[in-house]
Amino acid sequence: MLNIVLFGPPGAGKGTQSQFLVERFGLVHLSTGDIFRRNIKEGTQLGQLAQKYMNEGKLVPDEVTINMLKAELEKISEPKGFIFDGFPRTEAQAQALENLLEAMNTAISAMIALEVPEDELKKRLADRAKTSGRADDADPAVIQKRIDVYNAETLPVKHYYEKIGKYRGINGVGTIEEVTKRLVEVINTLQ
Ligand code: AP5
Repeated sequence: MLNIVLFGPPGAGKGTQSQFLVERFGLVHLSTGDIFRRNIKEGTQLGQLAQKYMNEGKLVPDEVTINMLKAELEKISEPKGFIFDGFPRTEAQAQALENLLEAMNTAISAMIALEVPEDELKKRLADRAKTSGRADDADPAVIQKRIDVYNAETLPVKHYYEKIGKYRGINGVGTIEEVTKRLVEVINTLQ
């Protein structure tokens, strides 16, 4: 199986690029942010719990997020592989993911990080706020908080994959097509 962690700060292009990789490689896209937003829309208990953290730009607690991902993985039969988008965001989540995949007799192939400077991230998210309706894009203070949380709590996860030789960083600036091409080049070296 081909299992990619698509990593990067808010606005790096993880969701955008995942759509192309799903088509190209036949992978299942699992975005924890999308799953939380679906739960908020459906008014579930999980959605109500997650919403207050998301609106403030904070991480939803590990236990809640890991249990949610586990339940999603259990719904999928005979996948060719996964793109994990927005997960893992903490070392505890990285460890949990390793255990969940081990139970499925598979493992992460690589973490690929989209590297984008902070000014560009803020510009992209402020632009998206005009049309996305995402509460966490609407307020510049919340955008800044998401970036700060990424730097403090999520960026260290990259070291987890560096240590096991599975980290690859690529330039996430350029046209969407250019970034896709760079991603595909890296993924082709993994197969
Ligand atoms: P999540 O939904 O994961 O949001 P995020 O990480 O903040 O990422 P975004 O969706 O904002 O950005 P993206 O990298 O996907 O970029 P996109 O392709 O959309 O998480 C939201 C919240 O949920 C978190 O804050 C947290 O509260 C909670 N959460 C989620 N997962 C969690 C976890 N594991 N643990 C705990 N809490 C969790 O692109 C952004 C914009 O840029 C778009 O408008 C796009 O069109 C544009 N764009 C894309 N590529 C380019 C390009 N090359 N050039 C110009 N513009 C581009």
